[in-house]
Parts: sequence; structure tokens; C-alpha cells
Amino acid sequence: MTGSSTPVLELRDVSKSFGPVVALRAGSLRVEAGSIHALVGENGAGKSTLVKVVAGVHRRDGGDFLLGGDSVDFGSTSDSKDAGVAVIYQEPTLFPDLSVMENIFMGRQIVGRGRRIDRPAMYAEAEGLFGRLGVDLDPRRPARGLSIADQQIIEIAKAISLDARLLIMDEPTAALSGVEVERLFAVARSLRDEGRALVFISHRFDEVFDLCDTITVMRDGSYVATHRTEDTSSPAIVAEMVGREVADLFPKTPAEIGEPVLEVEGLQSRGVFHDVSFTVRRGEIVGLAGLVGAGRSEIARAVFGVDGYDAGRVRLNGRDIRRRSPRAAIDAGMAFVPEDRRAQGLVTEASVARNVASVIRGGLARAGLLTTGAENRAAGPWAGRLEVKTNALDMSARTMSGGNQQKVVIAKWLATEPDLLIIDEPTRGIDVGTKSEVHRLLSELAGQGMAILMISSELPEVLGMADRVLVVCEGRITADLPRADATPEAVMHAATRQLEVAG
Ligand SMILES: Nc1ncnc2c1ncn2[C@@H]1O[C@H](COP(=O)(O)OP(=O)(O)OP(=O)(O)O)[C@@H](O)[C@H]1O
Ligand SMILES: [Mg+2]
Repeated sequence: MTGSSTPVLELRDVSKSFGPVVALRAGSLRVEAGSIHALVGENGAGKSTLVKVVAGVHRRDGGDFLLGGDSVDFGSTSDSKDAGVAVIYQEPTLFPDLSVMENIFMGRQIVGRGRRIDRPAMYAEAEGLFGRLGVDLDPRRPARGLSIADQQIIEIAKAISLDARLLIMDEPTAALSGVEVERLFAVARSLRDEGRALVFISHRFDEVFDLCDTITVMRDGSYVATHRTEDTSSPAIVAEMVGREVADLFPKTPAEIGEPVLEVEGLQSRGVFHDVSFTVRRGEIVGLAGLVGAGRSEIARAVFGVDGYDAGRVRLNGRDIRRRSPRAAIDAGMAFVPEDRRAQGLVTEASVARNVASVIRGGLARAGLLTTGAENRAAGPWAGRLEVKTNALDMSARTMSGGNQQKVVIAKWLATEPDLLIIDEPTRGIDVGTKSEVHRLLSELAGQGMAILMISSELPEVLGMADRVLVVCEGRITADLPRADATPEAVMHAATRQLEVAG
């Protein structure tokens, strides 16, 4: 092995199975110091499993794993930490009751004279780390209540204080707003410039091409190819990921628009949203556009009854829906696929079939059909349509890949056959190949008369799918644009400047 070209991380033909499920067949990855390396692939391709082998969460079944040229085999996450590997997951795992500083120094206090824990030294070091990262965070505050973005920064500060030579980020940006992504990228670039090695996993290709020097593609648990970013293109990467050409045009088909299904009048929640009125009709897809934090998800949550509101009313099929009662909303014919599927939408311990069938379970039970077979029959078609890649429907949802968990939540709600579907970020965490399948499905459901309210931060998705676009800015609807008038310029204008077009 020649000294200068020894990569920080080298994986060759790494395999890992869980019982009958082959998660990794032949995973390979070679990451150099001073570079940011993207790892891309479809949902279930094995990206997170590869990361977990490196992190010491899983032990590989076969293949080579070298760190700085030395063969390693981690039996636990503390082994990987000691070897200078830091992993940042989508949901950080901080201790909420401890302070920011205590979280950074978890398990390895700075000890001063007389073997006393030197808290001032630890605060000073935490402040120094945040200064270096260019973020304004108080190390004395508790971790509880911090945004996901700030929690990730704390994990990164921790990694730097441990002097990690390899930093892996598994879909870190899925829950971040635009400015937060920019801050994270600035931090990632400065770490690269210090000579550290970074691995970045994302389904957002604009981010991959913006941030990374090198891209490795995986498919079905195996390595496919590695490219310098400047030598490749997004369509080329997609073709390698899915093994076929993918149209990124959304197959929106025109549907007949009928009677109002959802009527929202003068909805208000003090300090969150104000005077929100709109209608969604049979067969219509209404997009809620706007910047992250504009209040779109909050409006959706109030309509469905997860959150309350101070004034206004919500009607479904002409009937008032009791406020703050998701049960009443479901009974009246609403379904809600929330933004944060893992926390709000999925019972991760239950099997896939049970998840998909849980909402219709009442019906099956009444008919005396509550058997695994009946559940599988109810769940199967929806899960199949969404290409939930599982060997068996009775697999536990907890062990599914992130993107497949998202699809299970969507399938579960579709099985209720609602009149109104509210769907928040329908394709977040879902790979490019399946994205257009989700869009086709929504379009078809609208064609069959379902009313759909869709929130999306991806402008092309909103413009491609929606019959009408409502733009939310600072808790108010600032534009109501029919499909023909919904240009990117018109939407961005309304999303950033308040009330120039009254909604
Ligand atoms: N603990 C486990 N037990 C059983 N199967 C598992 C386990 N962990 C992962 N798998 C399976 O291994 C395969 C690869 O999953 P992995 O999470 O690595 O995919 P991924 O590439 O990260 O996908 P995504 O983009 O959706 O996050 C999936 O089929 C998944 O269901
Ligand atoms: Mg994953």
C-alpha cells in the first residue's frame, strides 16, 4: 500500500444479511482524505446498512473493511468512535435533559487539577467549537427543544472534538430548511478543507452535485460505479441507480373537478397562521407551496385536527368537522400523511402488513376476518403499487430502509379510501425511481375523484402535480394560482412578499 494514496476508508465487497434478507451483497466504497464523497442509490439499496457496518452497529458477514489502511472489525459503536469515525443520522440522538455542552462531552469529561471535572474548560471548548463552525449556540442550554439542524451541529461539534477523521452523514438534510442546509454545507466544506473525509447520503441530486467531489452509486446491495462529480451528470447517475431511464416529468393527467370536498374558512391559530380560507374539490390536487416555516404543515395539522385553532371552521362534504379531533376527521373521510412519518405515521414495531392494514382493521375485524391472510390481502396491492421492497409483507417496519418506511405510511392511509387526502412532502426520502410512481398514483387517485391537498417544498413537484397552487407566506395565503398561472416566478414572488395578491 503506497502511503500518499491510502484512503481514509476502504470497503471491498462487504456483505451483510439479516436472516433471509440480503441487505448488502458487495458494498464497496473508497473515501480519500480532504474529500466529500456522495453515496447514492434507490430506497433499500443498502446505503444505511453499509454505514452501520462502518459505525460498528452491524458486523459484516464478508468482505474487506480498512480504515487508514488497517483492517478493522468493529463490535460496537464505541469501537468506531475510538477509531475516529463519526456518524450523523437523520434523527440525532442527543440526551434532551442534558445541556448542549454535556452532550458534546458525553462520557469523557475534561478533568482539571485535583481530578475535578473542569466545567469552565468544557464550556470554553464548546464555545470554541461553535465559533469554528460559525454557529451561534449557547452550550449552557438544554438540548431539549433544539431544531434538528442545531442538534446535527452539536453532533458535528462532538465529532470534531473527538478529532474524527471520517464523518458520515446519512440523509442529514431531509428535515432542514434552505438556510440550514447552507450552514451544514459550509461546515462540511470547512471540515473537508481541514483534510477530513466525509460521506454524504442524500436523495436530493442538486445537493449531491453542489457539495460532493466524488459520487459512488449502489444498486441492490452492490457497488455499481464511482465518478468524479465534474465528469458525470444527474441523468447518468440516475440511470446507474435504477438500471433504466427515468422520466423526471410528472405524469399529471387532467381530472374532472367536481363538488367542494374540503372547505376551510377563516382558520386562525394565533402566532401561527391567520385568516386561512380555501376549498379543495373532488378530483382536484391543490398544492400548498411556500418556504419551510411558512406555516403550511401547521395549517394541514389543524385541518386534520392534530392541532387546535382559535377561530374559523373546517367542513368536509358540507359537514362541520369538530376541532382537534383526528378521529372525527378520519370518520368523516380524511386521511393525513404527515411530514415526520417515523414519529407520527408509523408504528415501527408492527409488521408491514399490520401497518398498512391498521386503519382498516376495524372493518376487517367486524367482518370476522382479522387474520394475517386478510391483512396481507388488504395491504398487498397498495404496498405493491408503491414498490415497497420487502421480501415478505410480515417483515417488521423498523428494519425497513428509510424510504420504504415512508411508502408504508402512504400505503396505510390510501387503504382507508379517503375522500380527502392531505399529504405533507409526499416524496421526501423517496428515491427518484419511485418518485414518479408516487406522482402517478396521486394523479390516478384524483382521476377517481379523490380531493388531494399536497404540501411540498419541491417547486417542480408542486407545479407538475397541482391543479391549483396556494402560496403560504408567514402564516397567510398570499396567492391562489390556477395551474396555468403557477410559474416558478409567481410562486416565489408570493412566497417571499406578503399579501401582494390577496388570497
Ligand atoms: N435490521 C434489519 N433486519 C432486516 N432487514 C434489514 C435490516 N436493516 C436493513 N434491512 C434491509 O436491508 C435492505 C437495505 O436497507 P438500507 O436501510 O441499507 O437501505 P438504504 O439504501 O439506506 O435505503 P433508503 O434510501 O430508503 O434509506 C432493505 O431491504 C432493508 O429492509
Ligand atoms: Mg437509508
